Amino acid sequence: MDRPPLSDEQQRVFDLIEGTREHVLVTGRAGTGKSTLLNHLSWNTEKQIVISAPTGVAALNVGGQTIHSLFGLPIGLIADHEIELRADVRKVLNTIDTLVIDEVSMVNADLMDAIDRSLRIARHRKLEPFGGVQIVLFGDPYQLPPVPGDSEERAYFADRYRSMWFFDAVVWQQTPLRIVELTQVHRQNDDQFRYMLNAVRFGQVTKDIADVLNEAGARTPPDDGTMTLATRNDAVNRINKASLERLPGRALTAKAEVSGEFGGRAYPADVELQLKTGAQVMFLRNDADSRWVNGTVGTVTRIDGTKVRVEVDDEEHEVEPVAWEKYRYSYSTESKQLTKDVVGEFTQFPLRLAWAVTIHKSQGQTYEKAVVDLGHRVFSAGQTYVALSRLTSLEGLYLTRPLRPSDIIVDRDVLDFMRRSREGAAT
Ligand SMILES: Nc1ncnc2c1ncn2[C@@H]1O[C@H](COP(=O)(O)OP(=O)(O)OP(=O)(O)O)[C@@H](O)[C@H]1O
Ligand SMILES: [Mg+2]
Repeated sequence: MDRPPLSDEQQRVFDLIEGTREHVLVTGRAGTGKSTLLNHLSWNTEKQIVISAPTGVAALNVGGQTIHSLFGLPIGLIADHEIELRADVRKVLNTIDTLVIDEVSMVNADLMDAIDRSLRIARHRKLEPFGGVQIVLFGDPYQLPPVPGDSEERAYFADRYRSMWFFDAVVWQQTPLRIVELTQVHRQNDDQFRYMLNAVRFGQVTKDIADVLNEAGARTPPDDGTMTLATRNDAVNRINKASLERLPGRALTAKAEVSGEFGGRAYPADVELQLKTGAQVMFLRNDADSRWVNGTVGTVTRIDGTKVRVEVDDEEHEVEPVAWEKYRYSYSTESKQLTKDVVGEFTQFPLRLAWAVTIHKSQGQTYEKAVVDLGHRVFSAGQTYVALSRLTSLEGLYLTRPLRPSDIIVDRDVLDFMRRSREGAAT
């Protein structure tokens, strides 16, 4: 990720995190620079911090570890099951000052409470929330929520919690969560577009706003492979496959090499990647020589044996497979150092077909233009907001169908939480 200098408000939040032991949620609209600030924190903090995220892809994005692997927790509900922490996990959890979680909107209350219990156990401070560790959360609850589990899981949440959201975890009844909001949007420059996005975020889209968005979006997308953001995986795969098939020539199939503890569902790229000359691809990693960053889109210009060349902004680059490293934090009693060790590797071209991605995967990204395909129906709160707010301007918006009122879903629990937190701040 590029590193613009921090704005004043970002700097103030950085100083707050550095200068306090309070638990903090850094929230704010899409594009206010939360991830930018998180990156700055990971490079510049004086504290012993560990960085984590709910999903493998999100963790890889910020050079952290998934919450489940950091704590060694089983997948699925933890409820009141006994938590057994491995010795190496205990050691790590004992040394940290601060635990950072990115994309916290996708963390559920059960996991939040399991984090609390694990830290108390590891640090032998059973009576202290999070065992005395400072928790710093980054995310926007108006974006995508935790993925709902099966019906039993949902029943458990209904029974036990006010909602599935991280902010309704029991631990927050025992310790305060300070909420700070970044307000300045950096992704979009146009005030009118920012205003409309805000209306989508809060579910306050008037007919006039919908008309402007629909009129802007009702155009045939240019035939230059403009990215489609779709609600469902099957739509994404269908678009990518069809687009690849439409190209002449034979496909190269590149197989990933996987070693160590890289098991599980969280592969950062395709295990079998199909490419053809002319294919639209997205880079999945920042380049060490800054020729591209994670999210850069280009076109495959040549495939020569196993060598792949990709053109980005009129410049052709030779792309080689890279290794994604899966980390685990460990602590040495001798050196008193917290280190990140590589425990697994996944080697593949840092590329994926990029005529389409899911809105879920687009969370966190910035695009100049995109086709937004809401399919038959929008099925998740925040989905339309995440899709539209990826765009830097209205000129880049293409809609496969007009927006309908039912596309704008705002979670009641989020509204309640934000209202409560404002009232809390006022007193
Ligand atoms: N202080 C800044 N000055 C200039 N540009 C910035 C600044 N902070 C962030 N940006 C840019 O704004 C864009 C959005 O930033 P970022 O992705 O950090 O926002 P975010 O709050 O994490 O958004 P989202 O909620 O969508 O994940 C990026 O292109 C980033 O480089
Ligand atoms: Mg972000």
